[in-house]
Amino acid sequence: MTATTAGPSAPPVEGAHETRTGRRALRAAASRVLLANWTGSSTVPSHTLYPHQWSWDSAFIAIGLARLSPRRAQRELETLLGAQWGDGRVPHIVFNPAVPHEAYFPSPDFWRSSTAGAAVGAPPDIETSGIVQPPVHALAAWLVHESDPETSGRRRFLERVHPRLTAWHDYLHANRDLGGHGLVSVLHPWEPGMDNSPCWDRPLARVDPVPATSFRRADLTHGDAADRPTDLDYGRYVRLATGYRDRGYTDAGTDSGTGAPHEFTVEDPGFNAFLIVSEHALAAIALTLGRDPQPHRERARALTTALVARLWHPEAGLFLCHDLRTGTPIEEKSVTGLLPLLVPDLPGDIVEALLRTASGDHFGLGSTTALAPSYDLRGRSFDPSRYWRGPAWFNTNWALERGLRQHGAFARADELRQAILASAGRSGFAEYVDPRTGRARGTTDFSWTAAVVLDLLARTEDPGQDVDR
Ligand code: SER
Repeated sequence: MTATTAGPSAPPVEGAHETRTGRRALRAAASRVLLANWTGSSTVPSHTLYPHQWSWDSAFIAIGLARLSPRRAQRELETLLGAQWGDGRVPHIVFNPAVPHEAYFPSPDFWRSSTAGAAVGAPPDIETSGIVQPPVHALAAWLVHESDPETSGRRRFLERVHPRLTAWHDYLHANRDLGGHGLVSVLHPWEPGMDNSPCWDRPLARVDPVPATSFRRADLTHGDAADRPTDLDYGRYVRLATGYRDRGYTDAGTDSGTGAPHEFTVEDPGFNAFLIVSEHALAAIALTLGRDPQPHRERARALTTALVARLWHPEAGLFLCHDLRTGTPIEEKSVTGLLPLLVPDLPGDIVEALLRTASGDHFGLGSTTALAPSYDLRGRSFDPSRYWRGPAWFNTNWALERGLRQHGAFARADELRQAILASAGRSGFAEYVDPRTGRARGTTDFSWTAAVVLDLLARTEDPGQDVDR
C-alpha cells in the first residue's frame, strides 16, 4: 500500500441537494474526497487524523464507493477482511506499513498484534489493533453486491466474503456474549465506535487512567482539542487496551456474567442492532449463493428478542446501554439507543416510541435539529463540539434514515436525507457537525461523510449522476 497525499479540501457545496446541477456538483465533490482518500487497496477515513484503515469506516465507505466503483468497493472490504484474525475477529484498525508510527496513536508498536495476538490467530504479516468495531460489514457487502450484481457475480465477490463474514459473526457470538444473555458486549469504548460518549462515563470512572505523560497523542496535531476526547479519557483508553493486549487479546468465558476480567464490559444497542441487520444481510447472501439462510435468520431473531428484553426501556423511550460489571442500565440517552430502528422486525409499539423520541426534546430531529445529535440535547454532559458527546455524525444519520424508511416514515426519511446532503455539502464533508448550527467540527474531507452522500444521491430519483462505471 502506498499513502497518497491529501487533495485540497472540498469547498462548500451550497444548496447542493435542491437542483439537478447542485446534486451533480455534490456528487462530484463527494467523489473527489473518496478518490483522494484511496490508498491503492483501501480508503483512509482522513489522511490527517486517521491515516490507516478503520473497520466500520470501511463498511460505510464501501457502501458509498459502490456508487463510484463497485470493484473498489469490493476491494475495500476484502482488504479489511484480509486482516481477519484466526479466531474470526475483524480488527478495528489495519495499519498501513508505509505510514510512520508517529502519525497515529496508538501505533502498531502499542498493539503488537502479530506477537501479542499470535495465540488467538493474529496474522503474522499485517499489523492491526486487537479490538473490534460495529459489524456493519455484511450489510455493506450485501449493498455493494446489490449496487452491481453483475460485477459482483463475475468476480465471485459474495462467494469470497461469505466465509469470512460468517467467521466474524461466529467470533462475536462465541466470544463476546460476555453476559450470557444472547447479546454481544464491547470491552473498550473504541469498540462501539462512539469513543467518548457520556454512556461510558460511569463504567470508565472505575478505570485507573495511565498518566497522560506516558503516551503522546497524535490526534491533537490535526484536530482542535475542544472537538476531541480529553487526556483523561485517553489515559483510560490506554489502560483498557494495555490490559487486553497483556492478556493476549483473549476473551473471557461467560461464567460470571459480569464480563470479568475486562474492566469495561457493556452491552450496546447500536452495536447489536448492526449485528442483527448484518445477520439478515448474511441470510440474503447465503440465499443468493444457494446456501441455507436459516441459521442467519435464527440468529437475527434471537438477537432481536434479547435486544428488546435486555435493553429496551419504555420509560426512557429508547434503548439503553447496560453495564455488565454493575448489572445495571446506563441512564444516558445516546443515538446508539435509536439505532435499533434499523432492525426490521422490531415490535410496532417500540418503533412508534423511537420515532417520538427522535423528534422529541432530547434529539429534536426535524424541529430543533436537522440531523440527530450523538447525545441527548438536554443531557447534563451535552457538548455540541466534542466528538461523541453531542455533535451529529453522518453515518448514524444515514442509519436512522434507513430505519425511518424501513418502518414507513417516508416523509421524515426524505427530510433527513435532504438534511444529510445539505449539511455534508455545506460543511466540506465534515467528520461531524454542531447539531444546532451545522458548523463543521473535527476534520473535513471525511470519507464516510462523502460515502453516505454518494449512497443517498444514488437512491434519489434524480441523482444527477453521470454513468461512469
Ligand atoms: N476513533 C478513535 C480515534 O479517535 C479510535 O478508533 O482514534
